[in-house]
Amino acid sequence: MNAVAEPVQDRPVARVVRGMPTSDGAGVSLTRVIGQPGLPELDPFLMLDEFGTDNPMEYIAGFPSHPHRGFETVTYMLDGRMRHKDNHGHEGVLVPGSVQWMTAGRGIVHSEMPEQEQGRMRGFQLWLNLPAAQKMTAPAYQEFEPSKIPVASPSHGVHVKVIAGTVGAIKGPISQPATDPTYLDVELAGGASYTHVLPAGHAAFVYVFEGALQLGDRADTPVVAHQLAVMGPGQRLTLRGPAAGGEVAGRAIVVAGRPLREPVARHGPFVMNTQAELVQAFQDYQGGRF
Ligand code: FE2
Repeated sequence: MNAVAEPVQDRPVARVVRGMPTSDGAGVSLTRVIGQPGLPELDPFLMLDEFGTDNPMEYIAGFPSHPHRGFETVTYMLDGRMRHKDNHGHEGVLVPGSVQWMTAGRGIVHSEMPEQEQGRMRGFQLWLNLPAAQKMTAPAYQEFEPSKIPVASPSHGVHVKVIAGTVGAIKGPISQPATDPTYLDVELAGGASYTHVLPAGHAAFVYVFEGALQLGDRADTPVVAHQLAVMGPGQRLTLRGPAAGGEVAGRAIVVAGRPLREPVARHGPFVMNTQAELVQAFQDYQGGRF
């Protein structure tokens, strides 16, 4: 029998979404891109926040003590320093370029507070769901300082930080078999292009955070900074830096993962499958069982 290779399909842009300005924690200004009325969820992704400001008044209050259960939080710092501390004795400072992939599992209580009183604070927090079978797993961290995030330069004008997933022979340090995530930070010079083949069936988005990029079939209408493109079905994702773009024409995070296709019951920092499990989460938190 002859094996027939499946044709590799290009992923088109399904829709473009803009984030919503909001505030969270004790009064931190941020832009909610996933987890707002325009894009409530993109299974397995529950939330994407972009924070970025030079004004300490917009970040100094931080995120004092709060709980999480049932999912993972992924913090990717671009600028600034943030101290993280939880009720299981885990503590550390996130610096520019570092990644913290926290599996909250059955429960943690933690704080995320700025470790600076002035200067720029910029980065992302992504919430990634866990399957029902792993929501009550033990809390765990995958934390990497900037030097541990490999950078691929597959062609001229293309720089890809590989947080999760694989670019050529370079593999990102994050491991999460449940959702098999891809998380790349892609920077393109004007005229440069990068093609990444994602697993068919994975949900995928591109969030441009500097400049502009031409994505997939949208060569004429670049996706500009602070816009998220939800990518449609297919595998091959192509990003191009607009020709007039200069040395850094555009920069984006490219994120993909296997959808869980399970019911989602969420309230604030708890994400479970049923209302009964949400009630249980409240009771366990209030009873000091996190
Ligand atoms: Fe948190």
